[in-house]
Amino acid sequence: MLQVNEIYKEYKTRERKGLFNSSYRTVKALDGVSFEVEKGEIFSLVGPNGAGKTTTIKIIATLLIPDKGEAYVNGYSVIKEPKKVRENLGIVLYANKGFYSRLTGIENLVYYGRLYGMSKQEALRRAKELVDSVSLGKDAYRTVDEYSLGMMAKLSIAKCLINDAPILLFDEPTIGLDPISARKIRNLIKELAEKGKTVLLTSHNMWEVENLSNRVAIINKGKIVISGSPWEVKNKLKLKHMIEVEVLNDNPKLDLDFKIGERGFPVIKVISEKPTEDLLRIVDEIRTKGYEIGNIKIIEPSLEEAFAKVVEEK
Ligand SMILES: Nc1ncnc2c1ncn2[C@@H]1O[C@H](COP(=O)(O)OP(=O)(O)O)[C@@H](O)[C@H]1O
Ligand SMILES: [Mg+2]
Repeated sequence: MLQVNEIYKEYKTRERKGLFNSSYRTVKALDGVSFEVEKGEIFSLVGPNGAGKTTTIKIIATLLIPDKGEAYVNGYSVIKEPKKVRENLGIVLYANKGFYSRLTGIENLVYYGRLYGMSKQEALRRAKELVDSVSLGKDAYRTVDEYSLGMMAKLSIAKCLINDAPILLFDEPTIGLDPISARKIRNLIKELAEKGKTVLLTSHNMWEVENLSNRVAIINKGKIVISGSPWEVKNKLKLKHMIEVEVLNDNPKLDLDFKIGERGFPVIKVISEKPTEDLLRIVDEIRTKGYEIGNIKIIEPSLEEAFAKVVEEK
């Protein structure tokens, strides 16, 4: 499992002021971030650009040292045991480089397999298995300099799985992928979690996050603002449902407002915090007046609405 305890990180950047002067500016990237991901769980960090998602992932991956706080990967400290941490991690960083452009996808994977101490045959077997699971197909035998963004993304995912590490970090793994490829990657991530891998994910696709994650955290300006299962997050924010009830009558006499819907019948639309109660009340009123009911829809709030509410308020 994965544990992040109160991590802080500031970047110091030099800003040029004229020809000879420069000054330092500090950017507070992480302002006390904590969370835990259990074995077999998919945990997603979502937040606007610059919120601190990639910084968090880099600290867990030992690519950056936090100013304060600690993180543990399978019990190993990212500060004191970075080598152990790396053995327990597979990571996909957005716009990942580190492939040899003159080599094919397969050759790159074999190379990395060898780095992890596999025999040539073992590395080749593993590489073939992995290009299959990310559905790279024949593109696996093209040189990487010919790769599109989508092919690179698939190869990065294959590479992160090579050492069969128990903890996987995916920073925007489906970005730039066509819908079919993105779906395959999502299914793969789900399967990995079902097999007991611990997954930390970042994504800008709220639908993806909502469907894939056991728990999510919304991060903004280096702080986790809210976290829980997608359902809990929406519930905590008291997001409203939309209820739509169609009445099968041309001109019903009702105390409720309606508009003519797509099918030409009146539709009552209500925004509700208590959808079950409100729906029953509406149905009751229509029935009492002796009208028939057509379609009923309850539209649930989406995680995207939760995200917008949290991020725009701040
Ligand atoms: N190498 C860097 N040098 C200076 N500032 C950085 C660097 N990397 C990230 N930042 C800043 O840190 C903040 C968090 O960035 P990041 O973790 O990449 O956010 P996200 O992945 O959520 O978009 C942003 O304000 C970003 O501009
Ligand atoms: Mg990022």
